[in-house]
Amino acid sequence: MTPREQVDAIVRDHAEIADLVARLRSALEGGDHQEMKSLLMALEMVEAKHYASEEALMRAVAYDQADAHRAEHAKMLDTLKRLNEVLVWENLGAIGPQVVAHIEAALEHMIDADQALNRFVSANAGPAGA
Ligand SMILES: [Fe+2]
Ligand SMILES: [Fe+2]
Repeated sequence: MTPREQVDAIVRDHAEIADLVARLRSALEGGDHQEMKSLLMALEMVEAKHYASEEALMRAVAYDQADAHRAEHAKMLDTLKRLNEVLVWENLGAIGPQVVAHIEAALEHMIDADQALNRFVSANAGPAGA
C-alpha cells in the first residue's frame, strides 16, 4: 500500500471505531453490561490493529511527531486493556466514567493527532496515486 492508500485505510478504521464507540455509548446508557463487555473487547482488537497500522505508516513516511503519537496510542490501549480486565470481575457502574473518558480520549486523538498525521502524509507523500 502507498502512504495515501494507508491513509484511506486509516479513515475507514476511524469510521469503524466511531461506530463501535456510538454503540458502546448506547450500551453504557442502557446499562447493558453484556453488550458493553463484547463491544469493549471488539474495540480493543480494532484499536490494537489500527494503532499498529498507523505506526507502520509513521515509520514509512518518517513522521516527525511519531514518538508523541505512539505514546498516545500506548496510553489508550493500556487503559482499554485494564478496563477489559476489570470488566471481567467488577460491575459496570464502577467503570462507566473510565469508559466514557477512554471514548473521549480516542475521539479526540482521531481529531487531533491523526489529522496531523494525515496532513503530514498529504504534504510529504507526493502527488496522489504516487
Ligand atoms: Fe487513528
Ligand atoms: Fe493515531
